[in-house]
Amino acid sequence: MSNPYETAFQRSIQDPEGFWGEAAEDCHWYKKWDKVLDDSNKPFYRWFVGGEINTCYNALDFHIENGRGNQAALIYDSPVTNTIKTFTYRELRDDVAKFAGALADLGVTKGDRVIIYMPMIPEAVISMLGCARIGAVHSVVFGGFAPNELATRLNDAKPKVIVSASCGIEVKNIIRYKPLLDGAIEMAQSKPERCIIYQRPMEKAAMMPGRDLDWNDVMSKAKPHDCVPVAATDPLYILYTSGTTAQPKGVVRDNGGHVVALKWSMKNIYNVDAGDVYWAASDVGWVVGHSYIVYGPLFRGCTTILFEGKPVDTPDAGVFWRVISQHNVRALFTAPTAFRAIKREDPNALLMKKYDLSKFYALFLAGERSDPDTLQWAEKNLAVPVIDHWWQTETGWAICANCMGLHQFPVKHGSPTKPAPGWDVRVVNLANEEVAPNETGALVVRLPLPPGSLPTLWNNDAGFIEAYLDEFPGYYKTADAGYIDENGYVSVMSRTDDIINVAGHRLSTGAMEEVLSAHPDVAECAVLGVEDNLKGQVPVGFVVLKAGVTRDRAEIIREVVQMVRDRIGPVASFKIATVIKRLPKTRSGKILRGTIQKIADNKEYKIPATIDDPSTLREIEDALISIGYATARFN
Ligand code: COA
Ligand code: AMP
Repeated sequence: MSNPYETAFQRSIQDPEGFWGEAAEDCHWYKKWDKVLDDSNKPFYRWFVGGEINTCYNALDFHIENGRGNQAALIYDSPVTNTIKTFTYRELRDDVAKFAGALADLGVTKGDRVIIYMPMIPEAVISMLGCARIGAVHSVVFGGFAPNELATRLNDAKPKVIVSASCGIEVKNIIRYKPLLDGAIEMAQSKPERCIIYQRPMEKAAMMPGRDLDWNDVMSKAKPHDCVPVAATDPLYILYTSGTTAQPKGVVRDNGGHVVALKWSMKNIYNVDAGDVYWAASDVGWVVGHSYIVYGPLFRGCTTILFEGKPVDTPDAGVFWRVISQHNVRALFTAPTAFRAIKREDPNALLMKKYDLSKFYALFLAGERSDPDTLQWAEKNLAVPVIDHWWQTETGWAICANCMGLHQFPVKHGSPTKPAPGWDVRVVNLANEEVAPNETGALVVRLPLPPGSLPTLWNNDAGFIEAYLDEFPGYYKTADAGYIDENGYVSVMSRTDDIINVAGHRLSTGAMEEVLSAHPDVAECAVLGVEDNLKGQVPVGFVVLKAGVTRDRAEIIREVVQMVRDRIGPVASFKIATVIKRLPKTRSGKILRGTIQKIADNKEYKIPATIDDPSTLREIEDALISIGYATARFN
C-alpha cells in the first residue's frame, strides 16, 4: 500500500527533475536554474545548472528576513570549559559577515581555498560560513590528525589562508594545535599566505610575525561583507576522507544541490522544522558535522547545538541527557560508539532518570553498523524511536533511512531501513548483475546520484571515475557490502576495501601499513580492523621483522605505535601490534586477510585451500591470544 514515503521515493527515481526542482523552490536563489539535472557529460552529473545561490544566505540571512533574527541559531555547550553561549541568527550572521570581510581583506575571493583546523568552538562554524559567504571553498581538517596528514591536505587544496586555534581540549588534556599547524606548514610544499589564529584563554600560541594574525585583531578591523552569489555548481567545500592509499580523497560538495538536499532532509528524514532544536554530537571535522551541526539545521531554521565534550567523562555518562533536557533537544544524531561508551559507564541508565527528556522525540545513529545490543539498550531506556541510517562522506546525507517525516516503518534491528528518496540502491555481484533478495553483494547506487552528493573529487575527475564508477558501470560503488530483503530493507554488513571504522571515525588500514613499512626493521606487515566492544573496530598490526634484526621486540612495537600516532594522528587509535615470523599467504603471495580477521574476531574459519603454509595461521592464533584478541582455537 502506498504511503508518503513510497510516493516520494517513486517520484524521485522516475522524475528526479520534478522532485528536486520542487524541493529547490523552498530555498533562496538569486537566479533560478536553467536545468534541474544536466546529464550532458555522463558520468558527470550537475544539479541546478545555471542557478545562482549563496549557501550562507540560505543558512542565516534568509531566516533573519523571515522573522527569525532573534531565534537561537547556535548553542555552544562546552562542558570542558564550563561555557554555554547562545548566538541568535542575527548575532551569528553579524559575526560571520565580519569574518567574511576579514577574509576578503586578506585577498580571499570566490574559489580560493581556506583550510580550517579548529576544535569544536563557535569560531569554527563562523569560519565555515564566512567562507561560504564570499564563495571561498573551505576544507575543515579534524583536530585529531597529525601534521603529516594536514600537510597532505595543504598540498592538495593549496589554501590561501588557514584558520586555526591555539588549542583543543580532550576531556582534561590541552591539545596544542599551533605547533601541529606550524609543523604541517613546514612539511608542506604549498604554504598559506596567512594564518588566522584564535587564541583560547587556556593556551596562548606563539605567533609567526608577518604570517600569523590574531582572530580578535582581524575581527575588530573587519567590515561586514555581503553574500556573494555563486553558481549552483561551484564548490562549497572539500572534505578529505580516507581512501585505499595514504593519499586521502578530496570529496567536493557543490552549493546548489547541497542546500536543496540538506534542507529537504531535515524535514523529511529527521522530521524537524524551523524553531526545533537539533543536535548532532559529532565534530565539524567529519561529514556529519558539516551536514548536521552546521548546514542542514541552519538551512531549515532550527537551533543547532555545538557540543565540545565527550559522551562520558565530561563530567559523566549523563552529559547527553543534561544537554537534551537543558536545551530542549528534539532529535539527537550520533554514532553508536557514543552509546556504547555511555552504556558501559551507566548500564542501567540511572543518570538518564535525573533529567526531563520529554521534548526528545528520536535518536538517529550512523557512522558504523549499529549493533542490535546498543540499539535495544537505547530503545528501552529512552523510549523513543532509535533510527539507524547509512551514509558516507561522499554522499553528504543518508542513502538509507527510516524517513521519519514521510512514513515511519517498523524498525528492523541491524538495518538502516530503506533507500531515502533519490537513492536507487541495488545489490550486484562481481559481474554487475543484480542478486536475489537476501543475497549479499556489493551495494551500489544507480546513477545519477541525488543533489548534495559528490559531483567529483577535488582536481581529480579521473580518480573520481576510478574510485567510484569504473567497477560497476552505470552505478556508484559505495564500497560497502550488504543485502536487501524481500521487504526492501537494506542491511550494510562490511566494507569491501581496506577502510575500517574506529569509534565512528573512518580510517584506512592501507595508510597505516604504509607507516609500519617505513620502520627500518620491518620487512612486511598487515593491519586489520578487529572487533572492539567500545569503538566497534580497532586496528591491530602484524609485523614481520627483517632477517637479522635482534632488537627488543617490545621496543620495536612501541616505535611503530608511535610512528602511526605521529604520522596519521591519535585518532587512528593504533595501540596494538605484534611481531610474527611470517604472514599467512596464498601460494600466489596474497595475504589471507579474511582468515586473520576471522581468527581475531573469534569467528569460525576454514583453512583456505590456497594457503601456502597452514602453520602460519597457528602463529597468528598464538599471537592474537597473547594480546587478548582471540580466545579459542577452532582448527
Ligand atoms: N583533537 C585532538 N585529538 C583528538 C581529537 C581532536 N579533535 N579527537 C580525538 N582525539 C584523540 C583523543 O584524545 C584520543 O587520544 P589518546 O590516544 O591520546 O587518548 C584519540 O584521538 C582517540 O580518540 P577517540 O576515538 O575519540 O577515542 P576516546 O577513547 O578518546 O573516546 C569515545 C571514545 C567513544 C568516547 C569517542 O570516540 C566518542 O565520543 N565518539 C563519538 C562518536 C563520534 O563523534 N563520531 C564521529 C562521527 S559521527
Ligand atoms: P564516513 O565516510 O566516515 O561517514 O564513513 C562511511 C562508512 O561508514 C560507510 O561506507 C559504512 O561502511 C559505514 N557506515 C556509516 N553508516 C553506517 C550504518 N548506518 N550502518 C553500517 N555502516 C555504516
